[in-house]
Amino acid sequence: MTYVIKNARPYGEDAVDLVLRNGAIASIGEDLTVPGAEVVDGAGLVLLPGLVDLHTHLREPGREDAETVETGSRAAALGGFTAVHAMANTDPVADTAGVVEQVWRLGQQAGLVDVVPVGAVTVGLAGSQLAELGAMADSAARVRVFSDDGHCVADPALMRRALEYVKALGGVVAQHAEEPRLTVGAQMHEGDRSARLGLTGWPAAAEEAIIARDVLLAQHVGARLHVCHVSTAGSVELLRWAKSRGVQVTAEVTPHHLLLTDACAEGYDPVFKVNPPLRTDADVEALRAGLADGTIDAVATDHAPHAVEDKECEWAMARPGMLGLEQALSVVVDTMVETGRLDWRALADRMSVRPAAIGRLAGHGRPVAVGEPANLVLVDPAHRSTVDPAALASRSRNSPYAGRELPGRVVATFLRGVPTVLDGKAVK
Ligand code: DOR
Ligand code: ZN
Repeated sequence: MTYVIKNARPYGEDAVDLVLRNGAIASIGEDLTVPGAEVVDGAGLVLLPGLVDLHTHLREPGREDAETVETGSRAAALGGFTAVHAMANTDPVADTAGVVEQVWRLGQQAGLVDVVPVGAVTVGLAGSQLAELGAMADSAARVRVFSDDGHCVADPALMRRALEYVKALGGVVAQHAEEPRLTVGAQMHEGDRSARLGLTGWPAAAEEAIIARDVLLAQHVGARLHVCHVSTAGSVELLRWAKSRGVQVTAEVTPHHLLLTDACAEGYDPVFKVNPPLRTDADVEALRAGLADGTIDAVATDHAPHAVEDKECEWAMARPGMLGLEQALSVVVDTMVETGRLDWRALADRMSVRPAAIGRLAGHGRPVAVGEPANLVLVDPAHRSTVDPAALASRSRNSPYAGRELPGRVVATFLRGVPTVLDGKAVK
């Protein structure tokens, strides 16, 4: 099927028509018509390259009651994504070629986004023995991002070895930066609030100490390092310093760390429990500034679906994590575009171009131009709506944005020229 998108504004610039044929953008111009083609009205809509998530928890295999590759893929498409990296902390852990191939195949079968498996760095995420990194890289899943996310690769000698091996494979180690000896029993950001609420604190230094260590290791080894979900002002400072010294380091920030603070913990509602925790106003400001100036390369969701019984319980017992895929773009529009900190082209850079480059994804994060793969999203920037968790495509309901009004609606998503979302609804 050929699609003609009428009057859409690429990167928010002048309106054009686009013809999508055979998976690619066949032409861009004015008053384009193709007999027999399906027409999509793009009037008033912004057209961007399909979003790429570096950090999605899809929970399959093992916790299909919380999310499956298919339900998570649908949530991703509805959020404007055309590719997501599926984190390795499944059950069994994605630490073998067999498991990453299984996740990759499930993604192909769902056919809604490109599901790109992340391989674990260590066997069972246990932090003591390197996983079969080469076999995962050589598998059908072609793993290039390796992470023990949920856990930190805390042993510095093992982290050094991982950086060396992954460098040889042309990949990147994505570190969950958390010095575990500093976060024993931690429940929320360590500061005045944690003291008052009586919850054990997670100090900023636990994140910053690992980032400082790892940028030095990456420099020593000459390897690429990616830092997951950066959450503190000090982390942004360290990254700025490392980049100025030429270290090959990239970093991501989550939508929730761009919008929410530790004030959310006041009501003890575990929907706001997340790892790393929500931080202070000053941290949020530094994260926005770091994303704006490119010190932070990417927005990544850390979409972390959890079953009701794992979230609706007392704070200390609840699992950390919150949904992200379906509201990520809206939160970035709210915090970065409407505040004048990013224009649409820069938003596309942070949510598509750079994450695709970090993950070494050839067909994603490409410019809106003739001959490029038709991985695209159409956004209505003017539309505002209130988040209703019951209406989400995710199998879980732990959205921290429930009841919040946010701007920006994904009207359509195209994966290789085929719509996965039309009129704001998933096509399959
Ligand atoms: O809050 C989090 N949830 N942080 C992580 O690092 C892991 C994730 C999960 O898997 O639920
Ligand atoms: Zn993590």
